[in-house]
Amino acid sequence: MSTSSLHNLMITTVGAGNMAYSLITGLIQAGVPAKALRAADVSATQLDRFRALGVPAFEDNAAATADAHIVLVAVKPQVLQPVLKALSLRREQLVISIAAGIPLRTLQDATASDQPIVRCMPNTPALVGAGITGLYANSFVTPALRTQAAALLSSVGRVLWLEDESLLDAVTAVSGSGPAYFFYVMEAMIKAGIELGLEPDVAATLTVETAWGAAKLARESQTTPATLRANVTSPGGTTARALAIMNDAGMADAIVRALHGAAERSAELAREF
Ligand SMILES: NC(=O)c1ccc[n+]([C@@H]2O[C@H](COP(=O)([O-])OP(=O)(O)OC[C@H]3O[C@@H](n4cnc5c(N)ncnc54)[C@H](OP(=O)(O)O)[C@@H]3O)[C@@H](O)[C@H]2O)c1
Repeated sequence: MSTSSLHNLMITTVGAGNMAYSLITGLIQAGVPAKALRAADVSATQLDRFRALGVPAFEDNAAATADAHIVLVAVKPQVLQPVLKALSLRREQLVISIAAGIPLRTLQDATASDQPIVRCMPNTPALVGAGITGLYANSFVTPALRTQAAALLSSVGRVLWLEDESLLDAVTAVSGSGPAYFFYVMEAMIKAGIELGLEPDVAATLTVETAWGAAKLARESQTTPATLRANVTSPGGTTARALAIMNDAGMADAIVRALHGAAERSAELAREF
């Protein structure tokens, strides 16, 4: 998606940690001038890498957001509410929150009652421009503001709009926490490769390249993962033997239960905040 809708807009990130850094880097790479961006954080060290990008850095959140059109809230969920309250935002400023588990009602309580707010759930592949973000907007977000929010998150990957806020729990379970599941499978494959006699770095390279290749194939092919799997599973072959052992161990069922657990935890966190 083009960043032309962000032209002439001032964008401030409050919280200048890893996710903020990936988003700001993505925006600069997508052509947004560094001088149209601001980074605010309590940690001077965190701000140094933003200064290195030419992004003005602030240790005072309110000063950094005073002239912002878009305020990206990228602090940890635990501190979000007091941080947002202290900003005293104007009602025309678009708030985009990436904080996991913080519901819109909590964000709304800390801002104007008609503040336009987009709540979203990115994931860590955003750090390498390969993220996927689910977004949900409150009713004060106009079509033009939706386009701006989507353009901002598109700078680090793909975006999907959701029609119901509660679906963010499912997004959290699938794609928010999802990278960890794939890393977990990779860890087990690397362990097995080493047990089978490969050098650790060889086992790691084979595993990571295979994961990357499988994801690329699934992404680019016109068919489903189930068909792709069937295509590489010859009866009586090596893949069939491995998959039969996985099935006997109930792996697919465990994965489904695990994602239900993650979604439940996401809903619990939203209730806590
Ligand atoms: N990482 C992910 O995979 C991921 C995925 C989806 C959503 N998120 C959400 O993204 C948000 C940021 O995550 P992250 O991984 O980027 O965290 P992070 O690296 O810890 O960044 C948060 C930054 O906010 C700073 N901060 C703390 N209090 C502040 C305050 N009062 N004013 C300004 N800045 C303050 C922190 O400084 P100190 O370190 O000095 O406290 C830190 O530099 C979280 O809400 C998280 O739920 C993360």
